[in-house]
Amino acid sequence: QTHEQFLHCLSHHSNDSSSISKLVYSRNNCSYSSILESSIQNLRFDTAATPKPLLIVTPFHASHIQATIYCSKSHGLQIRTRSGGHDYEGLSYVSEVPFVLIDLVNLRSIDIDVENGVAWVQSGATLGELYYRISEKTRTLAFPAGTCPTIGVGGHLSGGGYGLLFRKYGLAADNVIDAHVINADGRILDRKSMGEDLFWAIRGGSGGSFGIVLDWKLKLVPVPPTVTIFSVTKTIEQNATQLIHRWQYIAHKLPKDIILIVFISKVNETVETSFTGMFLGPVNKLIWLTGTRFPELGLTKQDCIETSWIQGLYTGQFPNNNLENLLNRTAANKSWFKIKSDYVKEPIPESVFEEIWPKYFNEEGGRYGSIYLIPYGGKMDEIPGTATPFSHRAGNMYKIIYTVGGQEDGFQSYLNWIRRFYDDMTPYVSKSPREAYVNYRDLDIGVNNRSGNTSYAEASIWGLKYFKNNFRRLVSVKTLVDPQNFFKHEQSIPSLSPS
Ligand code: FDA
Repeated sequence: QTHEQFLHCLSHHSNDSSSISKLVYSRNNCSYSSILESSIQNLRFDTAATPKPLLIVTPFHASHIQATIYCSKSHGLQIRTRSGGHDYEGLSYVSEVPFVLIDLVNLRSIDIDVENGVAWVQSGATLGELYYRISEKTRTLAFPAGTCPTIGVGGHLSGGGYGLLFRKYGLAADNVIDAHVINADGRILDRKSMGEDLFWAIRGGSGGSFGIVLDWKLKLVPVPPTVTIFSVTKTIEQNATQLIHRWQYIAHKLPKDIILIVFISKVNETVETSFTGMFLGPVNKLIWLTGTRFPELGLTKQDCIETSWIQGLYTGQFPNNNLENLLNRTAANKSWFKIKSDYVKEPIPESVFEEIWPKYFNEEGGRYGSIYLIPYGGKMDEIPGTATPFSHRAGNMYKIIYTVGGQEDGFQSYLNWIRRFYDDMTPYVSKSPREAYVNYRDLDIGVNNRSGNTSYAEASIWGLKYFKNNFRRLVSVKTLVDPQNFFKHEQSIPSLSPS
């Protein structure tokens, strides 16, 4: 019944009504499940108990989105928008109330303009598709976003988006120069017509709050034709603990051209640490740099590979290093997982790495868990904390990412593991607020009031952690552009108008 009425409404309100029935999938359509599951990344939100959309709409034109917004409103349905489906908490495709899923999979055109160093990319494209299209045209331009190729442009840019180039060029959202957004009234706005407040909010204020971003104009950034990637692995027995401790004083102060990440995991019976990253230059210069600034690491030419920027991102990941794999939108290894994030402003004492970390890696959850340390500094120190909603700029030495992933069996105990680990780290990380990265969506840090009328004080519990003082401005923008709070989810920016 709802399906029929909804279709009728869509046909009435779309400029292109001829193909409407081909874009809408109800639960009894045989393609419904495969479309729903296609980009679900976290299998925790792909179970029989997971609430499913009443309908899935896969628009080909902006007018299909406009019509879906109109008809969802008139039928009292909520909307969830999905680009790449990588949201850690499944917020792009799960809702406790009846909802319609707008899946942007068909809106993924990419237009690269090498001469002017810009690109227009639709939200439904993946980062892999974007990088592939750039590399088809040039070896010396890139875009500073995440590494995982199946991430969607829409969600990633909405929440900031960092990758191996962020110490040099900032976040993906820092390199957006225009966009088209469909607002809660169904109007299409560009940078000029949306105004600088909304344009500020959509570049890091997180997805699913302000409207549906159709496409983005990106500033591409220069990279040398040859970069160097490197990796050195040390176990605890090989002084990894002392090296991590030392790394804290060095990594965020290195020149912008290098990123030196630490990855820690349990391998066999020991804890292994990889010091890995990318240098925007030749191997000899890298060896000189690390030999001068971090001699304890002992980096040698054998630990390095000279390659192009794009091959460097994916070396060893694809069969024969074939970049065509970047066009594959379905991630190879899906799992049940949980991720949490922290920011570190003072070096953590060596005793913590000696006691707490081995303790957790020796527990059962430690077999499925790992930790990344992502150094800040460089360009991130230069961009003011108010330039975009992303507030974790100068003053942060590095970010910690805690991850645990596996199968359904035993997952609750892994969840307990990561939560206890995070709790034990409280004294050593940012405080008041304890900061977190919004693209690492974590509902443990607070959620909106289920009634839909979330107060500023309630939302501040999670909002200040993601955005610090920028949260207040985000709430003002939201209140102005979506006073009825139409675009909402468990951690959407609240509108303070009566809804
Ligand atoms: P998805 O479609 O799930 O959307 C995420 C949120 O944005 C939802 O609230 C959704 O409604 C909203 N949204 C989506 N499209 C929208 C649109 N067009 N307009 C408005 N709102 C929209 N991050 C990072 O910075 N660097 C990294 O290296 C990585 N690596 C990484 C690896 C893996 C395996 C995963 C699963 C995730 C990451 N991430 C990451 C986190 C990633 O950046 C984050 O989950 C993004 O929000 C994902 O964007 P998607 O479009 O894929 O998500």
